[in-house]
Amino acid sequence: MNALLNIALFLHKTTSIIFPVPTSYTKGWHPLSFERMLSDVRPQKIEFVDANYVLWKGKNEYHMRPDVCPHQGALLSEGTLEDNCIKCSYHGLKIGPYKEAFNTKSKEVQGKCVLKQGILWWAYNKNEDKSTIPFCEKLEKSEHEKKIPITRFSIDIEASFSDCFKNSMDFHHAAWVHKNTFGNYAGEPDLVAERWNTKGELEGNFLYGSNDVYAKYTGGETDNSHVYCEPSTTYNIVNGKEGKFMIIHAAMRAITQEKTKWFVTAASNFVPSGPIGRAILEKMAKKVAIEEDGKQLAKMASDAEKKKHAFKFTLPLDTIYAGWNKKYETAEELERKLDSETNKDAMALIAEKLRVYNHSVNFYPHLKNTEWLTFNSPHLFKGTKVIDVFEEDTASEITTLRNGTVFKASGYMKKLSSDIVLVGNLTGKLKPTKDSLEIPVAKMPFKEHKFKILYLSDKYLLRKGLLSEEWDMMVRCVDGNCGEDECPTEMRLKTASALESELKNATNVFEINKIANQLISYNDTNSDFASRIKNTKWLNIKHRFGNDVLLEGYTDHLTKEITKKPNGSLIMAVGTFRQMNNSAIRIDIVNTTRQDRVSSEKIEIYNPFKNESFNALYLSEQLFVRKDSSLNWNVLSRINEDEYYPIDFKGNI
Ligand code: FES
Ligand SMILES: [Fe+2]
Repeated sequence: MNALLNIALFLHKTTSIIFPVPTSYTKGWHPLSFERMLSDVRPQKIEFVDANYVLWKGKNEYHMRPDVCPHQGALLSEGTLEDNCIKCSYHGLKIGPYKEAFNTKSKEVQGKCVLKQGILWWAYNKNEDKSTIPFCEKLEKSEHEKKIPITRFSIDIEASFSDCFKNSMDFHHAAWVHKNTFGNYAGEPDLVAERWNTKGELEGNFLYGSNDVYAKYTGGETDNSHVYCEPSTTYNIVNGKEGKFMIIHAAMRAITQEKTKWFVTAASNFVPSGPIGRAILEKMAKKVAIEEDGKQLAKMASDAEKKKHAFKFTLPLDTIYAGWNKKYETAEELERKLDSETNKDAMALIAEKLRVYNHSVNFYPHLKNTEWLTFNSPHLFKGTKVIDVFEEDTASEITTLRNGTVFKASGYMKKLSSDIVLVGNLTGKLKPTKDSLEIPVAKMPFKEHKFKILYLSDKYLLRKGLLSEEWDMMVRCVDGNCGEDECPTEMRLKTASALESELKNATNVFEINKIANQLISYNDTNSDFASRIKNTKWLNIKHRFGNDVLLEGYTDHLTKEITKKPNGSLIMAVGTFRQMNNSAIRIDIVNTTRQDRVSSEKIEIYNPFKNESFNALYLSEQLFVRKDSSLNWNVLSRINEDEYYPIDFKGNI
């Protein structure tokens, strides 16, 4: 064991893995409270690491908004409930999404609340996909079989989110921290099989030998499954012999950098049914979570100190962390792997991982006016070539068989949802032979084809047929890179860089629209957009304010916009920015100043927005194309450090 351990220590490159702390606006569903702890009669404060919110019930619906009265800023969580609204304790104004509320500003709420599996979940974005709420099927079944004891409790653990989250995936601590409960002194499971399951969650499966006390109940060994759901929930299913099992479900919310709220649900038939069993289960789960894990977690250094002094070596199964952490491989890294991988199973695994980068993007505009070559598909015979051409509202698939036969299927194309596309009314044709000009009609085995887009980027399209449930992995055809002199399609796409220069030279809004629409099919839909806009400077070259010169700069979280009016006056707005979803950025303007040209007679009246949001449609080394909230295109060109630009950026940007 020692020799093995040493080899492991030697071979494994250590990396400091600190999981990102979910903030209130982190994409996905956050646990607010257990259903049974919700109050009907008063507003409740909900803490997140970045902000405090208030939660209340009105007309049988739960609502959340910042815990700040839009009037003078009293804490709304200190108010009372009246007419489904919060009545502020300071001036008694009513706040809520109902007609009784004081005014429009008082009606605003944030995000969406949904009850599921005993927990009230909330997403910052009200359009967040409900199907991504963490869901444990076995827990649902247990709820319906009334005999299975279930217990729920919430605890505040004095540790960072990263430590808490890692704890549920730590395979070495059980033998030590849980030695008085389920931990086996044999050490650890020796093999953990990890995979991305069909819901896009990461799952680790392993066998674990029980200690003498637990063996009586488990039959000697348990079959375990740890599931990790974005952004902050994990559940473990421990299966023993004869259908015995235990579920530990932990949904977490970071409330400070050093404190994390856990919502623990435990269900098990290892214990007898009825209240006695429930009491035993609760005692057991609390001992494990509070007495054992909680106490240890309170004894951890801060994340910053860990980065400096920890992660100097690993134990053998610590590499599972790196495994779990694969979610944090960037889309670019995964694409690069896909580029060089030839094994089909390995490709499918990479494709599954890539899916996490594309949950709710509206894919359709990025699919249109593009041409794709299939490079991996289970139903593709070696030597067969398949090219899909998606136009504005039609799609065709050109298949070249090994014997040279060319077959073209075409139909109309329609978006069914943000990620499902229907190609209907399919008709098939064979390529005419030299001897006959007649175009033979091919019989189609099916009239329509529905597919789900799982990942779409500058380079790749990964989709799954809804009927076949099979992957098609496709690479974008650009300037004949599909590998033949004679591409069977007539459509030739321009490269992104050719379109970029056309866009720079475009003179009217119709032209901009047309080129930008083609360019957005190259958009890298990587969710990393906000980090790519950080620490950059831009000159807005096409925008709706004719002769104004607009400059924009972004630091880590601040943005500064300087407008130079044709009369010489300068206006500067400074704000914070943050990413709302894969492509939207919201800017909250905190300060606006104006400096008029000394000789100017005219004083500009500038009425700045308090906040503004825009959708990024295309972002490259050179160009940033976006649509603002009034659906105007803005085309910005990147300013490099040493470049001349017409206005000086004062300050840090
Ligand atoms: S601060 Fe809330 S009503 Fe005035
Ligand atoms: Fe533990």
